Amino acid sequence: MLRRSFLRICSSKQAAATAAAKPSFAEQYASTGSNVKGSNLRGRAKTSLQVSLSARKPGALLDLLTPFREAGINVNNISNRTLSLESSAKYLTIYLDVDAHISDDRMKKVIPFLESNFPSATVIGSWQTPWYPTEAAHLDLLDQTTLAAGEDLMDDPENPHPGFHDEEYKKRRKEIAEVARSYKHGQKIAHMNYTKQETEAWTAVWDVLTPLFPSHACKQYNCMLPLFAENAGFCRTELPQLQTVSDYLEATTGFIVRPVAGLLSSRDFFNAFAFRVFYSTQYIRHHSQPLYTPEPDLVHEIVGHVPMLANPDFADFCQMIGFASIGASDAVIEELGRVYWYSVEFGLCKQPGGIRAYGAGLLSSAGELQYCLSGKAELLPWDPFVAAKKDFPITKYQPTYFVAEDFKDAQVKLQKWMDAQDRPFNLTYQPYTKKILTFDKSAASLLEDRPLFN
Ligand SMILES: [Fe+2]
Repeated sequence: MLRRSFLRICSSKQAAATAAAKPSFAEQYASTGSNVKGSNLRGRAKTSLQVSLSARKPGALLDLLTPFREAGINVNNISNRTLSLESSAKYLTIYLDVDAHISDDRMKKVIPFLESNFPSATVIGSWQTPWYPTEAAHLDLLDQTTLAAGEDLMDDPENPHPGFHDEEYKKRRKEIAEVARSYKHGQKIAHMNYTKQETEAWTAVWDVLTPLFPSHACKQYNCMLPLFAENAGFCRTELPQLQTVSDYLEATTGFIVRPVAGLLSSRDFFNAFAFRVFYSTQYIRHHSQPLYTPEPDLVHEIVGHVPMLANPDFADFCQMIGFASIGASDAVIEELGRVYWYSVEFGLCKQPGGIRAYGAGLLSSAGELQYCLSGKAELLPWDPFVAAKKDFPITKYQPTYFVAEDFKDAQVKLQKWMDAQDRPFNLTYQPYTKKILTFDKSAASLLEDRPLFN
């Protein structure tokens, strides 16, 4: 019997970065931490300040900045109220953003100094969050030696690995993991010469899955799959190459594929979505059981996920999940993991011909793809507030699926859920530079109302 053919993110509160042993599959799935080197130590912190200084004293700004330099605190933004040439004001109001939290010992020295030496010094806002990337190149900081699965197969009694006792297969997995570990953002993904056994496994899955798509997959998926056959090497007799897939995917929605050695924590996986980067494994399941794999493999990533990422609305939806994960608390990441699970992995949607599947966990599992539309499972309307609280099984078919009206509706509801999360900053994504900028919420609201006179 075909069992669930993938799993992606992860569960235990610990960050895996410094763990002596690699996390188990279940631990990695539930992990809300990060495998980015040192991220559990660094975090990100900001304080926004409003300081008044003399408008007529040469070097007054230097007096304001010097204590930050001496304390080793980076000042990353300076602005002032508009000052007209005719202004007779004695003081100039300066707004500063610095890279330190108000509880930082260095700030405990700087703040009293400002209060003593300037007419007015006010802390507008201060926050600290887990570390997060602000550009795709930061994904290179991921420590792939700590990831679960990949080269170290896990033979969980409840989730036995068909390749665990096959030394040749394990050697092959190590080779493929090494290729992913050496990858850096912007490089071409290494071409993989897949073996006869690997190709036979791919063909066996292809032959079972693809006949189901016309009646079970959503129209957006069925629209994109032939395009990937024409442009990205999708066919039953050969495994697609990640670089070719990535090139075509990028031409559709700007998403790119990045190879990864093993299972990521949910935080790291979601963070990459913010930059339209999709992590993909490059190995394929064991040939002895081509319709089963205990971990995500190339079939799950390429057949399950990629065609949907070429749909503009769905791509936007995934990037929104990425935005929601940026600097999010562990509690929010845990809930976001469930939101992601019930949508990107196991989502259903309404279509003119009835309910269809769009989740990658369904589109890469022939058994569950049929089961989810069989009438045996509970179907609920898509609601991220409900999904975020609903636990799910990881070793059997889902008892509950959420059904979206369409991807636009799914986005609107996801945005409402995101707006309800308490994050101390506003986030802006710049599509031309592909970078994330964050702005302190309290400072932003103050600056909106600041007077234009002085
Ligand atoms: Fe997945």
